[in-house]
Amino acid sequence: MSEDLRAAAQDAVASSRAATDPDYPVVHLAAPVGRLNDPNGLLVDSGTYHAFYQFSPFHPHRKLVYWGHASSDDLLHWQQHEPAIIPDSFYDRSGAYSGGALVLDGDEPAQAPDSAAYQLFYTGNLKDPVTDARTASQCLVTSPDLEHFTKWPANPLLPAHPEGYTPHFRDPQVWRDPDAPGSFRMLVGAQREDLTGTALLYRSTDLLHWQLEGELTFPDADGAFDHFGYMWECPGLVRLTDELTGHVRDVLIWCPQGITPDAEGYENIFPCVYTVGRLEGTELRECDGTFAEVDRGFEFYAPQVFARRPSQPGPAIMVGWAGNAAEDDQPSIETGGWVHAFTAPRVLTLRGGRLLQRPAVELPHDAPALGIVGEWLDSATRIAELDGKRSWHMRLETAQAQERWGVRIGDDADYITVELVPDADATRLVVDRSHSRYTQHGQVRTVTLLSGTVPRLEILHDRSITEVFVGDGDIAFTLRSFVSPQASGAVVFAASPFRLASGCAIAYD
Ligand code: FRU
Repeated sequence: MSEDLRAAAQDAVASSRAATDPDYPVVHLAAPVGRLNDPNGLLVDSGTYHAFYQFSPFHPHRKLVYWGHASSDDLLHWQQHEPAIIPDSFYDRSGAYSGGALVLDGDEPAQAPDSAAYQLFYTGNLKDPVTDARTASQCLVTSPDLEHFTKWPANPLLPAHPEGYTPHFRDPQVWRDPDAPGSFRMLVGAQREDLTGTALLYRSTDLLHWQLEGELTFPDADGAFDHFGYMWECPGLVRLTDELTGHVRDVLIWCPQGITPDAEGYENIFPCVYTVGRLEGTELRECDGTFAEVDRGFEFYAPQVFARRPSQPGPAIMVGWAGNAAEDDQPSIETGGWVHAFTAPRVLTLRGGRLLQRPAVELPHDAPALGIVGEWLDSATRIAELDGKRSWHMRLETAQAQERWGVRIGDDADYITVELVPDADATRLVVDRSHSRYTQHGQVRTVTLLSGTVPRLEILHDRSITEVFVGDGDIAFTLRSFVSPQASGAVVFAASPFRLASGCAIAYD
């Protein structure tokens, strides 16, 4: 009899030590046991958010990826459910790889597969045990209720990569074509036979039969993305209206592996970048070839935006993986048998062609001001409101844009600092985790801010993960911050006497 992979995962979760680990986050989604990587199938329906995730319950002993499943009504607290996709079919037995969700409304399409509202598209990964040759297929799981999940009996929908490409063909995103009612599109990350990365577009009217339309092209980008890394992982398009121009834009967010741009940043093993254009057919028009990193932190990859029913429109809310490939050597493996987390959900907006990110769960407008606001502060001042708290959200702003100041989290033994450092030419964000318990993949990082960035730091710190937002969300910076598990609260420090113009915080524990 073949192995019961569902039961094996249940056993692994049942014997997990993760919840008792002092580093386990309170308001970030993390693996219940083992390893978590990419967000998958993010969707929101009737106010409940569902997040699926790449889940390896037997990590580090055995590498086998499921789709884990969690849900939340407040985007802070996540409830874990049974895994939604078990890699136990002939086409996914080496892993149920990443993909996205589509939430169907009313009678679209006329014959929805299984008449189900929720359609999850993913990559079936198959490795030949003898030759190690890879086959990548695109597959479908349907669900009427997000409790029961059924693999489409005629899977795979796309049994292999098309001619001219290699088996590095994965991570489908599916959405309805706003310009052609009744038509759906799929974007898949791919590698050409000449070992360059690209993304392929497919089209379908029934979600089962998919026609290859061709590569996503950039006619106005002067060849910028023609040879742009060796593989594109997790490509996704999100439509946003630019706040400044009022123009509707399609933002491509993706992870091109193997690029080394001649620019500040790009220090992670693989980057996650975006570019802005307008999708017409297979062309991302009016994209001039400029691109930028989505998040400047030490850990960030493979983000997705929550899918919605057309009848329930809402903001574009993104979640990323606060992790990187091949960087699983974190303290939590020893202390709790788990590794990696998701970022907090973030609202995306576009302003003058730049992507801004702000925590989707905002600090309450009536959050009381911190006691230190308006006072002249010494070189280091504890924030009394956060004493005893290890999971919190804080926003601080100074009127002294020329002052060097920052926040320290942790104690004398293990801490991180987040600092704004003005210089003659520019202000820089400097994040230093060289005195923390996790230093092997980056210690100090500097991000140059655009001139005019408001001197405002918004920090979401949750046990061992910290997200920093600068200005209006001009910079997002995610890091794993294994500070002292005994430490709580935060300290504001500055080079000379210093005053905060505003500041407020709430604690989550
Ligand atoms: C990105 C990625 C995807 C793949 C998945 C496998 O982190 O490599 O391309 O589908 O992870 O877990």
